[in-house]
Amino acid sequence: MSNGRVLVTGAAGRLGSAVLAELARRSRAVTALDRRGPAEPAGARVVIGEVADVAAVREALEGVEGVIHLAAIPSPLLASAEEVFCHNSAATFTVLEQAAVAGVRRCVLASSYSATGLPYSPRRLHPAYVPIDESLPLQVEDPYALSKQVDELTAAMMWYRHGLSSVALRLPFLGHLEDEIARRAEAAAADPGPLGTELWMYLDVDDAARACLDALDRAPEGAHVAGVAAPETLASEATLELLERYHPGVRVRAPLPGRAAPIDLSRARALFDFRAERIWRPVP
Ligand SMILES: NC(=O)c1ccc[n+]([C@@H]2O[C@H](COP(=O)([O-])OP(=O)(O)OC[C@H]3O[C@@H](n4cnc5c(N)ncnc54)[C@H](O)[C@@H]3O)[C@@H](O)[C@H]2O)c1
Repeated sequence: MSNGRVLVTGAAGRLGSAVLAELARRSRAVTALDRRGPAEPAGARVVIGEVADVAAVREALEGVEGVIHLAAIPSPLLASAEEVFCHNSAATFTVLEQAAVAGVRRCVLASSYSATGLPYSPRRLHPAYVPIDESLPLQVEDPYALSKQVDELTAAMMWYRHGLSSVALRLPFLGHLEDEIARRAEAAAADPGPLGTELWMYLDVDDAARACLDALDRAPEGAHVAGVAAPETLASEATLELLERYHPGVRVRAPLPGRAAPIDLSRARALFDFRAERIWRPVP
């Protein structure tokens, strides 16, 4: 993509704030859309409004060349099942449809590792195989996971319907390395069990922000889904030992040395040269 204006939805959120900061570092023109004001707009044009409101989205899209769509209810635990699913799905449909109608040709959207179904399932689920990749069979049992699965389908439809290219990033747990990730790592060192549903993966929020921009600028045309994560887990123990304990019998299809994250990152690498830079190291 050229250096055109980028619309960021959910710009006041955890990832949105990091994306605004990264866009400022790259001297890009920005429009921020959120239902609340972003903390550090840093020269951004700010539109306060709802992402399912066509008029607000149209207003935010003025002069925009690329869209990074992040606005969502980011967990099934934050609202009713109906609200989580309907809100997230309507938001993505509206933003992508209006973007395409306004002539936008590229977008990135926040999908989630949760689309696998593992993190929020009431039962302990196991992945069909590791390292996981974008072809992993999904075992969706909760409204948030379904909303992310539908987001990916919506993006694929928009490619066929309008020629709107997209990358849906399957993001794992996001946090700041020294803060939420360090605390999770501490919890995992005491008891790795609860984070088994997330396969002990994470991504620093600044790496996630870079991934959003790189995917927007570099990915080839088409509708893509790409898993991203730090290349190592935040657990202290070897990944194969953890898998044996918490996902016994899982099919291991490729080597997982040491604390390797059980995810195949080759698609994100091929699409936009994804590489996480902020890596958690266990205290020796
Ligand atoms: N945080 C994580 O660990 C994580 C992991 C995987 C995927 N994701 C996804 O990444 C995206 C960003 O997550 P986050 O952690 O920054 O969430 P967040 O809750 O910090 O930010 C979301 C932002 O979207 C805004 N928003 C929500 N609904 C809106 C609406 N209808 N209209 C306007 N604004 C609205 C909120 O005001 C908020 O500022 C979400 O799509 C989330 O599902 C997050």
